[in-house]
Amino acid sequence: MSDNPLRLGVNIDHVATVRNARGGPHPDPVRAALAAEAAGADGITAHLREDRRHIRDADMFAIKQAISLPLNFEMAATSEMIDIALDVKPNAACIVPERREEVTTEGGLAVAGREAQLAPLFARILDAGIRLSLFIEASEVEIRAAAAMGADIVELHTGRYCHDAAGRADELVRIRQAAALADSLGLECHAGHGLDFDTVGPIAAIPQMHELNIGHFLMGEAMFRGIEPAIGEMRRHMLAARAS
Ligand code: PXP
Repeated sequence: MSDNPLRLGVNIDHVATVRNARGGPHPDPVRAALAAEAAGADGITAHLREDRRHIRDADMFAIKQAISLPLNFEMAATSEMIDIALDVKPNAACIVPERREEVTTEGGLAVAGREAQLAPLFARILDAGIRLSLFIEASEVEIRAAAAMGADIVELHTGRYCHDAAGRADELVRIRQAAALADSLGLECHAGHGLDFDTVGPIAAIPQMHELNIGHFLMGEAMFRGIEPAIGEMRRHMLAARAS
């Protein structure tokens, strides 16, 4: 059993996906953020993509204004996004790789080997007092590179663990080892992507894990049972795994 409390960050991007399907204001991602807060979320995550396919600039400002929880602003490592983040002033900026043609964030950020390109961008975030989180694969090289770049947090990509049933056991070992290494280097360890009620347990049970960021499954489940029960059920799975 871990002493380390495990936070649940709720990603509300897909409320904006549904809103944008019709071009009007409904359903409002700010309302979803407030509902998640009322349901016991520990943080709100939103991704302002370069193509604005779901969350838009004004959403980010409105969410930050409305919530009392920490805001995790997901974004690509571009000057444009960092300018916006510096205005929004989130608790953390989570840097993700982004390709326009992808359906979702398909892999971790390549940090190792790109230090010279990334350092000035990261410095702007850190100098503004915003926590720097890097969304990376569970790889020793990437974790060591993240630590060397002064990141506060690494968020481990759980996409392969969730979607490749045959490789899941091996990927879980890699994620466990990565979490232990990150912790030993002083990095706060988070994880996310693709987690659902069936896959969350083994990730939640990793003692060095501090936060899970979950969006698509939770919002889909909320359509059937509501945001509050969906978050409550996810939290029960997380707590049960932690207690075991
Ligand atoms: N963490 C990061 C960095 C992500 O990019 C995403 C997807 O936007 C998530 C967590 C949440 O993934 P999902 O929506 O599959 O739960």
